[in-house]
Amino acid sequence: MTALIATPAWQALKAHYASIEGVHLRTLFDGDPGRAERFSAEGSGIFLDYSKNRITDETLRLLLRLADERGVAQRRDAMFAGEKINATERRAVLHVALRAPSGTRIETDGADVVPGVHKVLDAMAGFATRVRSGAFTGHTGKRIRTVVNIGIGGSYLGPAMAYRALRPYSDRSMEFRFVANVDGADFHEATQDLDAAETLFIVSSKTFTTLETMTNAATARAWLTGKLGSDAAVAKHFAAVSTNIAGVTTFGIDPANIFGFWDWVGGRYSMDSAIGLSTMIAIGPENYRAMLGGFHAMDRHFRTAPPERNLPLLLGLLTVWYNNFFGAQTVGVMPYSAHLARFPAYLQQLQMESNGKHVDFGGNPVDYQTGPVIWGEPGTDGQHSFYQLLHQGTKLVPCDMIGFCQPLSPLTDQHDLLMANLFAQAEALAFGKTDAELKADGSPDFQRPYRVMEGNRPTNMILADKLDPATLGSLVALYEHSVFTQGAIWAIDSFDQWGVELGKALASRIVPELGRGAEPDLTHDASTNALIRRYRRLRG
Ligand code: F6P
Repeated sequence: MTALIATPAWQALKAHYASIEGVHLRTLFDGDPGRAERFSAEGSGIFLDYSKNRITDETLRLLLRLADERGVAQRRDAMFAGEKINATERRAVLHVALRAPSGTRIETDGADVVPGVHKVLDAMAGFATRVRSGAFTGHTGKRIRTVVNIGIGGSYLGPAMAYRALRPYSDRSMEFRFVANVDGADFHEATQDLDAAETLFIVSSKTFTTLETMTNAATARAWLTGKLGSDAAVAKHFAAVSTNIAGVTTFGIDPANIFGFWDWVGGRYSMDSAIGLSTMIAIGPENYRAMLGGFHAMDRHFRTAPPERNLPLLLGLLTVWYNNFFGAQTVGVMPYSAHLARFPAYLQQLQMESNGKHVDFGGNPVDYQTGPVIWGEPGTDGQHSFYQLLHQGTKLVPCDMIGFCQPLSPLTDQHDLLMANLFAQAEALAFGKTDAELKADGSPDFQRPYRVMEGNRPTNMILADKLDPATLGSLVALYEHSVFTQGAIWAIDSFDQWGVELGKALASRIVPELGRGAEPDLTHDASTNALIRRYRRLRG
């Protein structure tokens, strides 16, 4: 494969950037009444207005040519065909099979994976229905009122994000909590007011070896058996989701309550696998299937929509445009929905664990920037904290702004206020306020320099009718495939995560050094040795 920066499209984009860099969005809009319509696209229930980006028709043409030269479509087809595109782990990447309708054939290693997916989905639906109806009871015969998901990373962020997002669709007679951190405070706070007889723990872990999850699962078992006075209670209060069925069985979970998935599902791409069991119990199997439908509709869109209308492709290419040509280090994600409060955190893992890489497919160091830092908070909260920097700071922060036309609360007037703010922020970021406009408004001379808003800050406006299960599925798949697009352009493996390993290994070396006995020989660097000694002295 030609080195990225040597490709003709890259070189053309570099030259083109020089001509765009100094052009203001005001100019781009002034001379082009059809711009908003031309630079917008729609698919799978999601509308994207990308006209407030610092692009022209030529930029778009060159970015699409870059996608072509980098073989994004071929790599996408290889993913859908079950090829082992996660080369460093020698695995297929088939999260798209998790939402493929029954009857679709998706093969890897010569076997169709779709029947297995539906078998697990049906088992989850049976279990979820019994828990929701009260047919599944705890050890003492009481119905389950609280579900506690124990898991971290992809085994936590997706379920926690989806529960928050879809709470209006959830069974309000039940409560859902999430324990991720190995800090005992997380488990303690999540359980200290619970009745063990009404609590179901779902231990979610792809590998079933993750330190945090295994520790919290053992704590949960001790808590439960301590409260209910019997080891036999475990069978009625624990379910597990994993690819490591042997590990789960050793833990002692009733085989009837074990839900499997496969090594071709990456942790951060697993919220629609059995890892979504807590989501399914919360919103019911029918809503869960609607969510899978939304995911699948976006998968279809990504495969079939023409490039210039292809939402994930466009979103991914625009990220590359700012990341690699404008030198933007971050992307802000601002959902104008309180229900999407955890969406930026979910996207942080999805994007930063996928594309935070420094070598290419061939194992060679890259000589260009890869994945940006992803961050964000719901609007309007962010407006009253960090938006000042977005508007008048010295850093360029491209933002995705996400909104929904219909509210999920009965307070419709407030929804108009929310949406007014969403549209106003994108307008202010793009067009700012000039000195002349401030003068015309009567702004005093001494203040005007401080009040000038330069504008020319790019945003993507992502709008959907309503935040419902199908829309959430589409939205997540939109970002999954945008991340894929970026990874394909940068020629990096978006599906491994070797960078998390060293910290885990070092922590397991330090654990015994924090034992209560005499201080062991410490052979770390001087700083780490001193920190360990200080901790041992002060921990109480
Ligand atoms: O350490 C990172 C990671 O492996 C993530 O990729 C994953 O989502 C998370 O840990 C949890 O892993 P598991 O589901 O195997 O417990």
